[in-house]
Amino acid sequence: MQQNGGKQAPIGIFDSGYGGLTILSDIRRVLPQYDYIYLGDNARAPYGTRSFEIVYRFTLEAVQYLFDQGCQLVILACNTASAKALRSIQQKDLPHIDPSRRVLGVIRPTVEALSSITHNGNIGLLGTPGTINSGSYTAEVAKLYPSYNVYGQACPMWVPLIENNETNNEGTHYFVKKYIDALLEQNNLIDTVILGCTHYPLLYPIIREHLPSHIHLLSQGALVAESLKDYLMRHPEMEQRCSQNGSCIYLTTESEKKFTDTATLFLNDTITARQIELG
Ligand code: DGL
Repeated sequence: MQQNGGKQAPIGIFDSGYGGLTILSDIRRVLPQYDYIYLGDNARAPYGTRSFEIVYRFTLEAVQYLFDQGCQLVILACNTASAKALRSIQQKDLPHIDPSRRVLGVIRPTVEALSSITHNGNIGLLGTPGTINSGSYTAEVAKLYPSYNVYGQACPMWVPLIENNETNNEGTHYFVKKYIDALLEQNNLIDTVILGCTHYPLLYPIIREHLPSHIHLLSQGALVAESLKDYLMRHPEMEQRCSQNGSCIYLTTESEKKFTDTATLFLNDTITARQIELG
């Protein structure tokens, strides 16, 4: 069992690749005082088309790595990992590793926000095949808002486009329109669409362009950031274990030059990444 002897440590933020940077930006805007370690498993992204067992194993390796760096709290800034690995890690692994540490995901805070946005309870969900097929959003919505309907549309081409920095060209427009049309064909009363993948905000302007203007498009960053703020307020015992120097370290399993160049574009900020190995 791991314990850090009461020392303070950064908050860990994990994603399969660049997508979690969209969550990290909002978290740092709302909670700039804390230290963060961002870990992108770019070498093994995308996760969205992988099996449950693989996503679970890769995510657990990443969480364990962040715990080894001292992190007491890890946010899975990835819907696929939240959908396919979070529950098993919370229930099966944490009790053995260290019951005082926490791993949180992005699905619950997103679903909680729906009631203040939708007028008719018809919710569209855009996500990776893994997230859509897991049924995690449908189950979470059913728990909180049993009268709502969730219509899921898998968008398998979007993450590869983003990971390769192809966020604005003819091909991107083609694939954005294709999946939005398929979603709206399921029910044209949908009034709220969840961007249920942390990579998708990087396509936000194009998605917005192809989505009818009366439909609300919901990004997760601000919701997750506010929910983390609320969590830390309600859990002073965890808050006290999060160090506060306003720093952020970037780790990637891919080449550090590639990550640094692409993340700098996505974050609109200059960063330096370090390459690590998982597994
Ligand atoms: N960013 C991730 C998500 O929110 C996963 C993308 C992927 O690796 O397929 O689902």
